[in-house]
Amino acid sequence: MASTQDTISVHHAPAPTDLRVRRLLLAAAAVAIVSSACDRRREPAPRGTVPAVTWRALEPSSLPADQQARITLATDARNDMFGRLMSALGQAMATEGTAGAIDVCRQRAPQIAQEVGAAHGVRIGRTSERLRNPDNRAPAWAQAFLSERPEAPVYALADDGTLGAVLPIRIMTLCLACHGAPASIAPAVRDALAMHYPDDAATGYAEGDLRGWFWVEVPAGG
Ligand code: HEC
Repeated sequence: MASTQDTISVHHAPAPTDLRVRRLLLAAAAVAIVSSACDRRREPAPRGTVPAVTWRALEPSSLPADQQARITLATDARNDMFGRLMSALGQAMATEGTAGAIDVCRQRAPQIAQEVGAAHGVRIGRTSERLRNPDNRAPAWAQAFLSERPEAPVYALADDGTLGAVLPIRIMTLCLACHGAPASIAPAVRDALAMHYPDDAATGYAEGDLRGWFWVEVPAGG
């Protein structure tokens, strides 16, 4: 004699045709879901949109231990770039004079940023809120932190794992020849600056002034 359990299961077991219909419906639904997902993926991203990445500043007094090595990497890259810029500048000023050195600065500075970036596996650049070259505008994440004109390093972490560093640059005596008060800049230097940088906003500084910042991006896993 069949138990109650058997009876119930028999009663509720779908007929073979029912099962086939259900499988078909399920398969159709799966195809619909997959193809609509593919359609969505195939749609081109709207123009001018970049996947949103959120950045948050890291508290300087308690930098996470797992970020320390990456902060050192960012600082090393900055030191390397600063060293290479200073030696190119010193050499150019000695051999070409200050006005001639402007050309060297113009050509070498972006190359040095590329070389240092490649050597350290980072992206790096120099920026300021008073730019000489408009191409030196900071990436958007850095601009957000620069609006407060930080006088000390700022470190930030993106939700995609990128570490960002913003490191202040100050004016030294040597810089005044090209970034000092306009009246104190040699006429040949002023002319060369006016020719190459008609919108130059990077004069009028005194020694010790905050001139701008290095920004460094250390990619996730870097
Ligand atoms: C021989 C002239 C000269 C001297 C000296 C000089 N600079 Fe500049 N500086 C330039 C030029 C030219 C540019 C634009 C380079 C470019 O086109 O990327 C520039 C750009 C910069 C930038 C990038 C932001 C911007 O405004 O485009 C910073 C930061 C900067 N200089 C800081 C300094 C500091 C700090 C010193 C001293 C250590 C210094 N410079 C000395 C000529 C000079």
